[in-house]
Amino acid sequence: MDQKNSIKPATYHFGDTTTQYYFDSAFQKLKEIVNPTSTIIITDENLFNAHTKKFKGWNTIVLKPGEAYKVQATVDTVIEQMIGMEADRKTTLVGVGGGVITDMTGYIASVYMRGISFGFVPTSVLGLVDASIGGKNGIDVGVYKNMVGIIRQPSFILHDMLFLNTLPQSEWENGFAEIIKHSCIKDARMFAELETGSLKTYQRKKNDFCDLVRRNALIKIKVVQKDQFEQGDRKLLNFGHTLGHALENQYELSHGQAISIGMTYASHISNVLCGFKDTKRVVALLEKYGLPTYASFDKKAVLEVLKMDKKRVRKEMNFVVLEKIGKGTVRPIPLSQLEEMITAL
Ligand code: GLY
Repeated sequence: MDQKNSIKPATYHFGDTTTQYYFDSAFQKLKEIVNPTSTIIITDENLFNAHTKKFKGWNTIVLKPGEAYKVQATVDTVIEQMIGMEADRKTTLVGVGGGVITDMTGYIASVYMRGISFGFVPTSVLGLVDASIGGKNGIDVGVYKNMVGIIRQPSFILHDMLFLNTLPQSEWENGFAEIIKHSCIKDARMFAELETGSLKTYQRKKNDFCDLVRRNALIKIKVVQKDQFEQGDRKLLNFGHTLGHALENQYELSHGQAISIGMTYASHISNVLCGFKDTKRVVALLEKYGLPTYASFDKKAVLEVLKMDKKRVRKEMNFVVLEKIGKGTVRPIPLSQLEEMITAL
């Protein structure tokens, strides 16, 4: 037996549900987890064309790639195809792809026949360390990211690092934005390690990269386990996301690029609100991993979108700031003050 296939999953509990994690595993393992005859894989054209052999013997629904397709119209066409394939309550949906695919798979599985089981095979760095974890799954509405969705955990997550062999450089950078975010809010030691390392070294040293993926997954898993429905600590994961999401669809930035700019400005706001001293280190680290930091943008237009952010509660925004590297905290800020600070940056 392939050594990788003998590795047992790690089980994590989220409220009354559990997710099995197959870290550093292999796609072939999927047929031991689910029965191919009662499973439908959802993936995108890029992955399907690059790994056609892997999908042989599986029922598949292949979508156009990209965030532009993370919308209700795609959900409708997938559901029509599932009905055509006679999917029933015993069908399992498996999302094989990046965040767009896993978000949509989890959402569709949660509404089809009022909910069927689902699992993920994340194939991008962002998917491995962030998008596949936590149970938030949904779609965008116009420029409003993830405006419609649910929180429901996958029954398993399977990692196969071989998918990263076809991942473009820009997608590595995209994923490292979330890794840097985790280090900023929760792990000063990881932040220092990232300062010493580089994208190239992680791409070359697969063991170091697998270790980094597992540590990042665990940071997010632990936060979500404590606060699945975002009443407290889970809000920290939004560091850089308030401004980031407002920028993302308006400027056609990748998620990583948008939150990198968001983290840059959130570091400055952290300095104003709680005397954070290390903005330069945050900016240098983001730039080291190929991410944008300072950007000129139409502040008025971005503030309009920002007002509809899900973290807004009436006239206040729950904004994530850094007290120091490795320690994020949430501050409710009146929208008017946030607007003033962003306008002044
Ligand atoms: N699916 C991403 C999250 O739950 O945060």
